[in-house]
Amino acid sequence: MRTNQPQTIYLSEYRVPAYLVDTVDLRFELFEDGTRVHSTLAVRRNPESDAGAAPLELDGDSLVLESVALDGKALSEGEYEDRGDKLIVESVPEQFELSVVTWIEPQNNTRLEGLYKSSGMFCTQCEAEGFRCITFFPDRPDVMSRFRTRVEADKSAYPVLLSNGNDVERGDLGEGRHFVTWEDPFPKPCYLFALVAGDLVEKRDTFTTCSGRDIDLRMYVEPRNAEKCDHAMDSLKRSMRWDEETYGREYDLEIFMIVAVDDFNMGAMENKGLNIFNSSCVLASQETATDVAFQRIEAIVAHEYFHNWSGNRVTCRDWFQLSLKEGFTVFRDSQFSADVGSPTVKRIEDVNVLRTAQFAEDGGPMAHPVRPASYMEISNFYTLTIYEKGAEVVRMIHTLLGPDMFRKGSDLYFQRHDGQAVTTDDFVRAMEDASGRDLSQFRLWYEQAGTPVLDVSDEFDSGQGIYRLTIRQSIPDTPGQTGKKPQHIPFALGLLGSRGESLPLRLESDSQDAPTERVLELTGETHVFEFHGLNECPVPSLLRQFSAPVRVRYPWTREQMLFLMSHDPDGFNRWDAGQRLAVDVIQSLIGAPKDSSIDARLVAAYRHLISDSSLDQALVANMLQLPSAAYLIELAESADAPAIHEARERVLKHLAIALRDDLVACYRRNLEEGDYAVTPEQIARRSLRNTALAWLLQINDEEGRELAQRQFRNSDNMTDRLGALRALVNSDYEEDRERVLEEFYERFQEDPQVVEQWFSVQAASDRAGQLPQIRALLEHRAFDWKNPNKIRSVVGAFAGQNLAAFHRPDGSGYNFLADQVCRLDDSNPQIAARLVTPLTRWKKFAPAHSELMKSALERIRDKSGLSRDVYEVVHKSLA
Ligand code: PHE
Ligand code: ZN
Repeated sequence: MRTNQPQTIYLSEYRVPAYLVDTVDLRFELFEDGTRVHSTLAVRRNPESDAGAAPLELDGDSLVLESVALDGKALSEGEYEDRGDKLIVESVPEQFELSVVTWIEPQNNTRLEGLYKSSGMFCTQCEAEGFRCITFFPDRPDVMSRFRTRVEADKSAYPVLLSNGNDVERGDLGEGRHFVTWEDPFPKPCYLFALVAGDLVEKRDTFTTCSGRDIDLRMYVEPRNAEKCDHAMDSLKRSMRWDEETYGREYDLEIFMIVAVDDFNMGAMENKGLNIFNSSCVLASQETATDVAFQRIEAIVAHEYFHNWSGNRVTCRDWFQLSLKEGFTVFRDSQFSADVGSPTVKRIEDVNVLRTAQFAEDGGPMAHPVRPASYMEISNFYTLTIYEKGAEVVRMIHTLLGPDMFRKGSDLYFQRHDGQAVTTDDFVRAMEDASGRDLSQFRLWYEQAGTPVLDVSDEFDSGQGIYRLTIRQSIPDTPGQTGKKPQHIPFALGLLGSRGESLPLRLESDSQDAPTERVLELTGETHVFEFHGLNECPVPSLLRQFSAPVRVRYPWTREQMLFLMSHDPDGFNRWDAGQRLAVDVIQSLIGAPKDSSIDARLVAAYRHLISDSSLDQALVANMLQLPSAAYLIELAESADAPAIHEARERVLKHLAIALRDDLVACYRRNLEEGDYAVTPEQIARRSLRNTALAWLLQINDEEGRELAQRQFRNSDNMTDRLGALRALVNSDYEEDRERVLEEFYERFQEDPQVVEQWFSVQAASDRAGQLPQIRALLEHRAFDWKNPNKIRSVVGAFAGQNLAAFHRPDGSGYNFLADQVCRLDDSNPQIAARLVTPLTRWKKFAPAHSELMKSALERIRDKSGLSRDVYEVVHKSLA
């Protein structure tokens, strides 16, 4: 906890480390009242550093130092300085062995960084800077060492003792204690270190790699979760095969382990050979996990596994390069999900997140480039920009180079930098060297923050048969960045004729055979493209597949939107046209009189979607989802959140009334037969029938109510049970709401992942999640202030998804959030800082709201002893 202003760290101040650590020998003595950590480091001067005989400086945080020895000789207090956050040894030889003993208290660690306890087990989280909470060490990713780790603990309480690499020795220590020693042959930065000790069951499988090696796959979970491992294990095997086939990457150790822990700040962590997962991101069964959860788990298991190459074998030089591993790995996992599921649906889901949340971040006070130039607290930079925009940047390279050249580039990258800690620039250079393409202007995507805007206009010269498209790009100012240069943007497009046919895109230079889709490359501020040989003015299908993370502005008419919605051969753009139409209709109703009419063409379009079963049902299921209130707020200039919510509700109810019979028919048509399976086809059916239910209950339809109750009681899977629960909770049937919530809790109270779902269904609902009800949830016996998932499922869901309640005009929602942030700041600053996010968007809102949001932020700012995490977010938001 701090009182003075935190320091800003700059990329421009990067210096290579003065000392390197070749090997790390660790011994952990785990006890109930604390842990003693013995560390012996083989240190030598870095030949690449010009620091010479500089003092040795090691990072530390919340450590009790017990002893320091140099080459076996104990140092006296005058020979080193323990400043708390640094251990400094003034004079050291060129090469030496340093032994440090520290005492830590995992049982009191509520920050969940370093070594801590979660439901009785010991576990670690070291990324980004948690290793310094375990022992003094040069805690930076460009120091890579070989680790040997001996874990000692009580044998009956902690029969399973794990760390990275291969287990090389085990034995008894007497007095009921035992030990296991692990050795990781691959040098790694300390953020990839992990340790687990607990009473866990083991699930085993094997994977035979492309070169014929058998890998031991193991999952470790609490006994009650033994039956929830199959999906993650299958996902792991699919990921391993996929990375061999798609990127030529083979696994490198003899064993690969996954551990599930309940208390975890993030989703999961790619520690070498020992991935640690938030329980909610790995455990699943048909009865307890929804389709969304199944897919999320598969994607996260893949993501963490893929890090073994993109992150571990090749790691980051410093934390400004975070997107090197995260952007690339998200791109890889999204390719994987597209390959094993529906590519169009995966793209829709990704773009939805990007446009709703990343664009908001990029237009707000915390906007930063994919490669930031400065930070105060690195934990605040695990953002949508680093992850999702970073993945979009890699995707654009893939689009520009084509799959074959991209693969050559990734091969070169892995081969050239194996075992190194490198930069995003090194990544781009490998892509350039392999392909011969010049990506120098493209690099601006890493340096400039802000979402580029493309203003598109067109004209048709019927005399000459020329269609002229003018595209102008501009990039808005962001904190600390103005007057930006144009970026290199791949812009995919097609042109449609009046019967919906794809027209050839014949540029002047082309011969007769022109393609029907092109990727134009925008590099200047303005481009004019002329397409020849056209008999009629075409309808443009712009930015197909969302080929770049930009905003496109074009004066679409509703006719054009409807036309693209049913004719565009690009499924993504069909969805996008439908979204645009819905946005347009909803926006026209914001603040309009209650009886103003709603465009009948919207109803007709949705009726067609619901009733034409020859359409791709997975796409339809997505097209039926109205744009979220969060997205509508993102699009607004000065958002009136309650009015937006109301307009959206009005459209939804209007559609539900008009399409009532079609919805019932849709529900019945999609009633499942056969065994539950998480396939795109079945997912679509479940999604369609649950959408139908949700809509029917919005209009108090008695038949819908019965269907929902029946589904709630009889379904054999959580997707349907939760779908029915949500529909009833969000309805006006108050008694039903109470009853199903109670029944659901009764049935699943022993399952934390389901209880989290139960919390968030309520917290996100404007019926069940008004402030007094939210306060009651915080008092519920299943709520736990030490568990980040519970906090997210109540406080996070309320502030992030329950816009009607959060944006109450009296500001009570904002003040409530400020109170919870202040409360959490002392125990878990990382989670506290994340929870602030909705308030940081205050400038987006209409004055009455934004004033109140700002004063809530000021209240947080004025709390004494604010953590560095919350300090940075709050101060930047108020700047
Ligand atoms: N590196 C993890 C991932 O993306 C995320 C993470 C960051 C987890 C920091 C914990 C702490 O896979
Ligand atoms: Zn990651």
